[in-house]
Amino acid sequence: MRNKFIIRALVLVLAIMLSLTACSRGTDNPPNQDETENPVDIGSEKGNEQEDPIDEEDLNKDDEITEDEQEDPLEDDIDNEDDIDNEDDIDNEDDIDNEDDNLHDLDLEEDIFNPASLTVLANKEYSLGSDYTPEDLVTVQVPTVLENPEVKQLRKVAADALKEMFEAAKEEGIILHARSGYRSYRTQEQLFKNNVAKHGEEAANKFSARAGQSEHQTGLAMDITSESVNLKLTESFEDTKEGKWAAENAHRFGFILRYPKDKTHITGYIYEPWHFRYVGVEHATKIYELGLTLEEYLLGDIYAGY
Ligand code: DAL
Ligand code: ZN
Repeated sequence: MRNKFIIRALVLVLAIMLSLTACSRGTDNPPNQDETENPVDIGSEKGNEQEDPIDEEDLNKDDEITEDEQEDPLEDDIDNEDDIDNEDDIDNEDDIDNEDDNLHDLDLEEDIFNPASLTVLANKEYSLGSDYTPEDLVTVQVPTVLENPEVKQLRKVAADALKEMFEAAKEEGIILHARSGYRSYRTQEQLFKNNVAKHGEEAANKFSARAGQSEHQTGLAMDITSESVNLKLTESFEDTKEGKWAAENAHRFGFILRYPKDKTHITGYIYEPWHFRYVGVEHATKIYELGLTLEEYLLGDIYAGY
């Protein structure tokens, strides 16, 4: 009986000791360890993205993480302990997407690599399909230069914006002319071939896109000129009052100067003060104010360039 009592007492003491040990291990662990690790993980993923700019999955991630975040990953979240404690804030990708300093909320598949998107990227790296033709082409209602009816077309939204732009210019005494708009895959194929025959492949490749790689196939690009340069497409257009007006005002109507000076290593093409691309007023204004190319705006620092 006495032995039984001693054994029970020993078991009880052992149980109390075990439970005390378990409690003290629990308090050694920081309660929010998983959460505090998350911001660091997000930062380190970005390093990988920069190493492999071509990988599509990585590009997707960059879409969620802005330039500023890359420099200073989630600074606000780290400084604010409440945010770290709150698992939702860190795990919820929408919170990261909606940060005020994001350049855009465009989706890679839907908006950037979809040929029918107003923000599609077409360049030497990202080609349009040979069968892609915009469904809403219309003839532009502005002065044109060439006879070919195909190149007098743009997609409806771009044609309307072009008309507004030309009318606004006219009110300031600036007369603009539209030279080359939509070009089918086949037209571009022939044009590039002609340019190669005339200038050689290396030279042609600097100012003329191969079939599938031209923005003209999207129906969102228009080459603009003026009588002051004999309605030609020439670099001296930048020095004319028409060229200056177009460069400084196109964004107000949704167009960007697509191949700026000194950006050949990013765009792949020489300076083209005549080539304007419609992306909508919001994006065009940001691109203009930030002085970015479309590549930089859409894909950020990870874009390799040429
Ligand atoms: N001149 C531009 C690059 C084009 O051919 O589309
Ligand atoms: Zn052009």
